Amino acid sequence: MAGKALWSGRFAAGMDDSTLKFTSSLDVDAALAFYDVMGSLAHVRMLKTCAVIPAADADLIAKGLRSLAKQLRDGTFEMDETLEDIHTNIEVKLTAMIGPAGGKLHTGRSRNDQVATDFKMYLRDAALNAVEAIDRLIAALQNVAKTNRDTILPGYTHMQHAQPVTLAQHMLAHAFRLGRDADRFLDAYERLNKCPLGAAALAGTTYHIDRKMTSDLLGFRDPTENSMDSVASRDYATELAFDAAMTAVSLSSLCEELILWSSQEFRFIEMDDRYSTGSSIMPQKKNPDIAELTRGKTGGVIGAVVSMLVMTKGLPLSYNRDLQEDKRPVMDALTTMTDCANMMAKVVSTIKVDESHMFEATNAGFINATDLADYLVTKGVPFREAHGIVGETVRFCIANKVTLDSLTLDQFRKFSPLIDEDVFTAIAVKNCVDRRDSYGGTSPASTDVELTLSLSDLVRREEDVRVKDQLVKGCWEKLFRE
Ligand code: ARG
Repeated sequence: MAGKALWSGRFAAGMDDSTLKFTSSLDVDAALAFYDVMGSLAHVRMLKTCAVIPAADADLIAKGLRSLAKQLRDGTFEMDETLEDIHTNIEVKLTAMIGPAGGKLHTGRSRNDQVATDFKMYLRDAALNAVEAIDRLIAALQNVAKTNRDTILPGYTHMQHAQPVTLAQHMLAHAFRLGRDADRFLDAYERLNKCPLGAAALAGTTYHIDRKMTSDLLGFRDPTENSMDSVASRDYATELAFDAAMTAVSLSSLCEELILWSSQEFRFIEMDDRYSTGSSIMPQKKNPDIAELTRGKTGGVIGAVVSMLVMTKGLPLSYNRDLQEDKRPVMDALTTMTDCANMMAKVVSTIKVDESHMFEATNAGFINATDLADYLVTKGVPFREAHGIVGETVRFCIANKVTLDSLTLDQFRKFSPLIDEDVFTAIAVKNCVDRRDSYGGTSPASTDVELTLSLSDLVRREEDVRVKDQLVKGCWEKLFRE
């Protein structure tokens, strides 16, 4: 495989094969092909409007680019591996198709601004895909919440029984956390949505181009403000890698719980057969592999953020070839995280909840101890003192292997004479839950409010994604048509 270059004038000898192999980015940036053609279509339209190149040449180029776009769409575009990247592949194909006019496409731009533009367009779509996948999972969590408004299970802190909660409250906790993860992608989208095209190599160009026009044609909000920053910075890619990592961490934490919950020790849930795997040796096993893999893939996703930060930390302005190493980790991180969220949406929407097991579990661990203390407070005991009294009561229960609810009134009164018959209602687990009706609390009345908020959050995001996606798709259509 001998390397071919379009810009060999400066060189007496051709590139060594090993140099081509080492420097080529085609295996990764082939994924940018469609965006590269769209970017070129916008660029050539602008060059024509600004009379930078003759209209006839521009029309010829646009026609050629459109047919390359069609080839890409129906899978007939063949990559030439002797060319080092996707930009060169497309320009060479174009010129082979339409002749020397193809050489005018690269007027007033460079691969430096071109690759930044392509990558940003790719990332816009990837960000929206990520949001949609996260929202699918959130919808699944909301559904579990909806049908389990009164399902009670132990709530934990330090992995110890703390206070009883509902499954609705538990699922919505994950939903709100993931909702912020999704919002982070949309925030990042706004920041990245400025067009670097026309920054050229680093300093702008002598041609009288219209950067606002290319920016509009490609659905960006505005052109980037500084040509050097345009080709040198990758903060937008790093930010999305972080957003993916943060989401992966949220997913991983959810997975960890679902894995525990499906163990024989908990038996809170059972995962659907379609989303579980078996063991090659132990016939009784049903393994939560999707959740485990999602938890496991988190490491790689987090790695992308580290790669990006370390890769860019020592770079002087402006473009440096190091930057070519930005795509693989960030593309991988976004794809992996999106796959995980999509799979977890299926897992969550098909879990079988064992309500009675969940409730039974609240019997162990004195989960209503806080409620006994709160009860004493209603009888006028200062909370600190109540805490001490209940502590002693619990110690007695542990020594005698009984639960709080099974104590007789006489036994209770040994710890405080203020305790009455009404203590039994006060510490009944269901009542403990119902009484926590503060804003954001675990009572069914509170979680009804939470669910409404979570649902409207989802609607807002769906609308945001739809508007953003349509704007970009509208641009592609226009570029195809005109
Ligand atoms: N493959 C390169 C990248 O991903 C494209 C830009 C190359 N520019 C250059 N001056 N060699 O960054």
